[in-house]
Amino acid sequence: MGHPRNILITGASRGLGLATARRLLEYGHTVILGVRDVKRSAQAVESLPRSQNAVVVPLDVTSDDSVATAATLVDERVTHLDALVNNAGVLLDKEYVPSNTLLSTVRDTLDTNVLGVIRVTNAMLPLLRCADHARIVNVGSEAGSLALTSDPLRVHSRMRLLGYNVSKTALNAVTVSYANELRFAGIDVLTVDPGYCATDINRLSGRRTADQGAESIVDAVLSPERFPAGQFRNHDGVVPW
Ligand SMILES: NC(=O)c1ccc[n+]([C@@H]2O[C@H](COP(=O)([O-])OP(=O)(O)OC[C@H]3O[C@@H](n4cnc5c(N)ncnc54)[C@H](OP(=O)(O)O)[C@@H]3O)[C@@H](O)[C@H]2O)c1
Repeated sequence: MGHPRNILITGASRGLGLATARRLLEYGHTVILGVRDVKRSAQAVESLPRSQNAVVVPLDVTSDDSVATAATLVDERVTHLDALVNNAGVLLDKEYVPSNTLLSTVRDTLDTNVLGVIRVTNAMLPLLRCADHARIVNVGSEAGSLALTSDPLRVHSRMRLLGYNVSKTALNAVTVSYANELRFAGIDVLTVDPGYCATDINRLSGRRTADQGAESIVDAVLSPERFPAGQFRNHDGVVPW
């Protein structure tokens, strides 16, 4: 699908990240899979098609050292990055409501879902700037849409996960901030909601499959449409911020 691209995906060991890697490899792209634990991910990576186009790098998005080392390893393998998919994420507060969520849980969630995205984006920007019209796809959630969650008539208002919701709303602000800077460098920045997909993050309770969710991410990575103002998208189109 289109010219072969170099794409880095964080959190590619399982779930949506792995499914996105699989689909992009099927299309003939080079996929760099950022995984926290290379050994633990070996079996999953071996199951991928066109494995000669798959590169695995150790990458913990919460660690400055890990991200810096990953950037060096990616730089050794490719001349540029056409896309970065900031997919790694955690949901740590499923059992709680805002008033009884521990501050440490919120902090840990923000560390991965927000600071991790900023850390990885900054480290990979030199390689993204080397591409023609690179793209950053941040994997978000409708739980981060203030327009949806603040409407009591919508099911979204029942998503009351303090750490997770705040992290995904902040992620949207990260998307807009980078979009406003990077449009002048020809780099588009998007948030994509994959929909409610059956993965470990929700104990496989999602209605969509990981492959269906990955399709939304892949569309955002490969779409020929340009998004100079940034955009929040899902499989149906635009999601309100
Ligand atoms: N599933 C859904 O319904 C849904 C809906 C909306 C948005 N999302 C978003 O989609 C993204 C992927 O989630 P998923 O559903 O695929 O969940 P998942 O199956 O639990 O996968 C999460 C991935 O993130 C990785 N990860 C977590 N912390 C990390 C860290 N510090 N550094 C590097 N990688 C880390 C995990 O790696 P390990 O294997 O090492 O733990 C794993 O690969 C998340 O951002 C999530 O918020 C999911």
